Amino acid sequence: MKTLVIVTHPNIETSRINKRWAAELRKHSELMTVHELYSTYPDGKIDVEREQKLIEAHDNIVFQFPLYWYSSPPLLKQWLDEVFTYSWAYGSTGDKLRNRKLGLAISLGGKESDFGKDGDIPFTINEITIPFQATCSYTGMNFLPIFTVYGAEYHLTDEQIEQSAIDYVKYIVEIVQSGEKATV
Ligand SMILES: Cc1cc2nc3c(=O)[nH]c(=O)nc-3n(C[C@H](O)[C@H](O)[C@H](O)COP(=O)(O)O)c2cc1C
Repeated sequence: MKTLVIVTHPNIETSRINKRWAAELRKHSELMTVHELYSTYPDGKIDVEREQKLIEAHDNIVFQFPLYWYSSPPLLKQWLDEVFTYSWAYGSTGDKLRNRKLGLAISLGGKESDFGKDGDIPFTINEITIPFQATCSYTGMNFLPIFTVYGAEYHLTDEQIEQSAIDYVKYIVEIVQSGEKATV
C-alpha cells in the first residue's frame, strides 16, 4: 500500500522546506514514492500515460507544493488538466481515481495568523484549496485534512523545518495511510 507524492516546486534547488520534505520522504520508499514534476518535465511536456500508470500503481495521492499566489505552482495545474482525462478520471467509465484519498502538503510564506477572518487574507487554507476539494468530489476521491507549514518568510529555524519533515512523514502514515497496514 503506497502513496504517490507529487512534488511541484519550480526552484527545488533553492527551496528550504519542500526540498527537506522530499528528502525525508525518500527515506520511506517502501511506503511512498516521491515524484518531482519540474525535474521530470523540465520542458513542460507531460507524459500522460506514464502519469496515469503511476497513479494506478499507488493507492493514495499527496500534492506537495509551496503556496504561490494562493494557488499551486503552474505545472501542477497543467498536470491536472492533462492527466485527469475523460473516461480515465471522469465520465461514465472514468473511475480510476474513485475512492483514492488525496492529501495536500503546503508550505506558506505567511504566518498562520495572516489567514482567516481576522487576518490580512480573510480566507483559511481550507477555503483557498476549494478547487482541489471540488476536484475530489467530481472524481470520487476523498479529500484529507491538509498538512501545512506557515511562516516560511519569517525565518523558520532549521530545527522547525526538521520537525516539520518528521511531522510530514507522520501525516502520510497516520492520516493518508490510516486504516492501511503500515508502520515506520
Ligand atoms: C511566486 C511566489 C508566490 C508566492 N505566493 C505566496 C502566497 O500567495 N502566499 C504565501 O503565504 N506565500 C507565498 N509565497 C511564499 C512561498 O510560499 C514560500 O516561499 C515557500 O512556501 C517556501 O518553501 P520552500 O522553502 O520550499 O521554497 C510565494 C513565493 C513566490 C516565489
